[in-house]
Amino acid sequence: MKEKAEKLRLDKALAHIGIGSRKEVKQLVRSGCVLVNGTPATKSDMIIDAAVDELLVNGEAVRYREFIYLLMNKPQGVLSATEDRNDKVIIDLLEPEYAAFEPFPVGRLDKDTEGLLLLTNDGQLAHRLLSPKKHVPKTYFARVAGEVSEADGKQFAAGVELDDGYKTLPAQLEILSAGSESEIRLTIYEGKFHQVKRMFAAVGKSVTYLKRIRMGDLELDPALALGEYRELSEAELAGLQNFKARREN
Ligand code: URA
Repeated sequence: MKEKAEKLRLDKALAHIGIGSRKEVKQLVRSGCVLVNGTPATKSDMIIDAAVDELLVNGEAVRYREFIYLLMNKPQGVLSATEDRNDKVIIDLLEPEYAAFEPFPVGRLDKDTEGLLLLTNDGQLAHRLLSPKKHVPKTYFARVAGEVSEADGKQFAAGVELDDGYKTLPAQLEILSAGSESEIRLTIYEGKFHQVKRMFAAVGKSVTYLKRIRMGDLELDPALALGEYRELSEAELAGLQNFKARREN
């Protein structure tokens, strides 16, 4: 299948993918370091078709794309934000070539929560995944102080009342082990502030460790150490996009 034409200025394309500022890109073009389909570009404002034109910068092939989609295993102690005056944020964990796309987190995890975080600069996809109407499931693994019971599972399935009076949507609890400390998986279909911790508080228990392991069809990659990230595969991205489609039907 022929790709859709994607026409834009050469300097804009190269700046967008983090080759340098527009000024730096102009300099590169002037010094003959940028080839378009094998020919040195003479004007930095020339229009290219990013879908078909081959770009070489300093002898290295580069690929323009508008959006990036990153799957991160968020560590504790880092904020799910793009900037903060005091704390380290997830963007600080990115290589400059990815930070250049100006991605943002799709939803938030607490500072002390680990696990799956999607980062993208695709506002439309983010909006659809976060829309309360879409009920995109999110699954968490948690350690909980105290013995989690089937009765808690029944309450979560019916919806529990949080400290502000909000009644949660039905959620699914899976008890992995129960004792003085329990291990569970919980799937929720909304994303209220501190929701998992507050749901356990509603049944008189406290979460001591929390990690998100799934969002929609996207699973945390066990190969990613804390703080590591990678681009989504095409199948994973299609899964997220189709997931939205399934829910809309
Ligand atoms: N629920 C929480 O309590 N914290 C998170 O970070 C995510 C869900």
